[in-house]
Amino acid sequence: MTFRAQHLLGIEHLHPVEITTVLDLADKYAEENKRGIRHKDVLAGLTQINMFFENSTRTQASFELAGMRLGADVMNMSMQASSIKKGETLIDTALTLNAMHPDLLVVRHPHSGAVDLLAQKVNGAVLNAGDGRHEHPTQALLDALTIRRAKGRLHRLSIAICGDIAHSRVARSNIMLLGKMENRIRLIAPPTLMPAGMADLGCEVFDNMEEGLRDVDVVMMLRLQKERMDGGFIPSEREYFHRYGLDAAKLAFAKPDAIVMHPGPMNRGVEIDGNIADDINRSVIQTQVEMGVAVRMAAMDLLAQNLRARRAEREITA
Ligand code: NCD
Repeated sequence: MTFRAQHLLGIEHLHPVEITTVLDLADKYAEENKRGIRHKDVLAGLTQINMFFENSTRTQASFELAGMRLGADVMNMSMQASSIKKGETLIDTALTLNAMHPDLLVVRHPHSGAVDLLAQKVNGAVLNAGDGRHEHPTQALLDALTIRRAKGRLHRLSIAICGDIAHSRVARSNIMLLGKMENRIRLIAPPTLMPAGMADLGCEVFDNMEEGLRDVDVVMMLRLQKERMDGGFIPSEREYFHRYGLDAAKLAFAKPDAIVMHPGPMNRGVEIDGNIADDINRSVIQTQVEMGVAVRMAAMDLLAQNLRARRAEREITA
């Protein structure tokens, strides 16, 4: 089997072959989505519950759409209005959910590690839709697919990840994925937003855009994660844009055919100049959203295959 995982909690424990398996299947789904081909049989009879303890637009919508395209019964739990607010612990919420027998559980949580904990308490397959500043595996996979389609390969590329590295689960998952696939990773951030020890992970570290962007194939911008800051990380948004915001002058240091990415939501004029974000010759930001649906279809398809295989095995041995 080329994808063995029971849950998709992070990139950290995925083997490069498993990553390629997800991307190949997602590529097929991306093409079929474009042609309007549906596969309602793939998740038919399975229940998917989306639990978002943190706000989300893109990720929640695309998990919902992915599940519906594959024929799952999809339910969104509104965690803002749930018992969590009344003091229920995460474990109690998990046990309650478990009693509803979800097959696929998609979870976003503000605390790093909360999704792993939940996965130990439920019977279905858990997909991490972002936990604190820890991991966001489907984002890294959709970024990888976007890069592979734009550049024709996913190895030996020079990729710059720029901005709030310190608070970003998108950066962490991408560093691991792109590293496993043998790319050169350059991290660019002000010293206050660069975590220690990144050079030990094999990344090159820069604190200015002009040097860091030199001759890269891919420029990946990150949002300033203000909700995870307690103030004092940047002098002002204006100053930040001046030094670290992506504009035409800074982009000119990258390769002439370098692509520009951003996971969204974007702060125009803070991390990125609106004109660059909208430039269809450079920006693949809309493609990232499109690939998000395909990657989530592929991930849920593969996890559901493993879930069904485990259940069949249990029936045989019972
Ligand atoms: C990212 C997230 O939630 O971590 N957004 C997303 O999933 N599209 C990035 C971000 O919020 O900055």
